[in-house]
Parts: sequence; C-alpha cells; structure tokens
Amino acid sequence: MTSATRILIDTDPGIDDAMAIFYALASPELEVVALTTVFGNCHTDVATVNALRLLDIAERPDIPVVEGAVAPLVMPYRGPVAFVHGTDGQGDVFLPPSSRAPLPTTAAQFIVDTVLADPDEITIVLLGPFTNMALAMMLCPGLTQHVKQIVVMGGAAFTSGNASPASEANVLNDPEAADIVFGADCPIVMAGLDVTHRITMTDDDLARFAAIDNPRAQHLAAIMPHYVRFYLERNGVHGIYVHDSTTISYLLAPELFSWRELPVRVDTGHSVCRGRTLPALRDSDEEGPWHGRRAVRILTDVDARAVIELELDHLSC
Ligand code: BDR
Ligand code: CA
Repeated sequence: MTSATRILIDTDPGIDDAMAIFYALASPELEVVALTTVFGNCHTDVATVNALRLLDIAERPDIPVVEGAVAPLVMPYRGPVAFVHGTDGQGDVFLPPSSRAPLPTTAAQFIVDTVLADPDEITIVLLGPFTNMALAMMLCPGLTQHVKQIVVMGGAAFTSGNASPASEANVLNDPEAADIVFGADCPIVMAGLDVTHRITMTDDDLARFAAIDNPRAQHLAAIMPHYVRFYLERNGVHGIYVHDSTTISYLLAPELFSWRELPVRVDTGHSVCRGRTLPALRDSDEEGPWHGRRAVRILTDVDARAVIELELDHLSC
C-alpha cells in the first residue's frame, strides 16, 4: 500500500476553503499535516479561528493550526469579502469559539520547518493569497528544492479574472507573493479560474449535503446558502464554483484534468492589469522576465461531473 501524500494547507476560510479542508480530511490518500492561515476572504485572526473551528467540527484536534501573515508583502490588505463568505467567513453562522489555540510560531517559519523536517515529502496547497509561502521562500532561499509539489488555487491564465477583469482574487490580494511562488524551484500546479469556472456544483448537488448525516456535511449545508446567493445575485449562476476543492480533486485524480505547461509571471505593476497571471505562450527571450522559470502546470479542462461526484463521495464518509 502506498503511503498517504502529506499536505500542508494554507487557507483563508472561507466557504469554499471549508469544503476543500473537509474534502482533504475525508481522503485517506492524503494526510493533512497542518493548516496555516492568511488574510483574504476575511482578516487573518478570523481565518485562524475558523481553521480551529473547522478542525473541531471534523474532530481533528491532532492537526495544528498556525497563524500567518496579516497583510500582503507590499500593498495594504484589500479587506474582507463579507458579501461572498459572510462577516464571519463562514456564511454568518457564527460558530462557537474553539477551545484550542494556534501554535506559537508564524506560518512562514512553520512551513520552512515542516519542509526541512521531511524533505521532498511535503505538498503545499495554497487556498488563499500566496503570502505565507512567499515569506517562507524569503526566509529560506532554496526551500522549494525540498518541496514535493505546490498546488495553488489562484490565477486566470487564458480567461478573465473574478476580482477584476484581469485578476483572480487570491492573486490580486498579493501579486508580489504570487510572482515569487510561481518562480519556485519545484513542480507547481495552478488550479485557476481556467478550470474552476468549469466546475459548477448545482443546486441539486448542494441539496445532497443536507442529506449527509455527518457534522462536516451539515456545516457545509448550513454555510452554503450565503455562497449560493452570492453566485446567483452577482453572476447569475445557479449553483457554486468549487474553487478551492479543485486542488484536492487534482491531488486525488489528476487523470480527470488536462493542462498546459508554461512559465507564469504575475503583473505586479499598478495598472488595470495588476494581478494578471501571464503564461509565456512562446519561448521567452534570453534574460527576459520569463527566462529561467520552471513551467507551471496550468489546469485548463476537467471532467467536471466526475470531480463533483468524487468530492460528494468523500464528503459522505
Ligand atoms: C478564491 O478566492 C476566494 O474567495 C476563494 O476562497 C478562493 O480561494 C477564488 O478566486
Ligand atoms: Ca480560499
């Protein structure tokens, strides 16, 4: 029997983050070694409390939570998106406080220590702005030579953004960090809007949560109406995009996806295109901005029905 893939999840929970975390926890193929937190959907302190509460619901007190950056590397935090995820980041259900506390270290230091303690074995899954991973790379140059793989939810290579016409939300929240992480020296998989906008969980799919008799599914059923309302009112979409869970589906079943492999840079300028993820569609010039960067595996298509069924199956356990 092959051993479980060890993953560290960096997250800003977030309704779709909660789905992804529960999906990972329900996957015997994956071992979640820690949750690290970051600003994004909510402030970092709220993200930390939510990470602890989600692990309470999942009855996983063995998994540590570590608080991360409270602001992007360069620019101020753009602020919470309560209209998407609720003022509490969890659909305004206001969960009870957790009895647990985060570990007394920083997410960036924890990422460094975890990777160096288990070289070539740790997969980093980024579900929020990439700030903590960028800080870890700055703390320990050469770190990513020892990372097994980085799988990110973020970016929009061949399609338009969601936080601006040019940029996806996690990248726009810290373009400088995203540009650092896309330059990492390990395999990188980008589950951006190119693929996540092809996966819509329908109202019928979502109704299935309510029928699943476990606390994780019941929590998702409770927080989902807020998210569903957002998609209907803002995008005219019936159902939801399962952005963050796409990273977990890829780890479980990469054969359900197709991709292109190209180096990626992020626009860190202060124009309307700030935060745009730009793949090099042709060989870049010697010494140009894309030169010497590893190709990123950009997910471009998916068997959407198969990944939705995979996720619902896991969440039923
Ligand atoms: C990403 O932004 C956040 O709102 C979601 O949790 C997801 O990580 C989608 O663009
Ligand atoms: Ca997220």
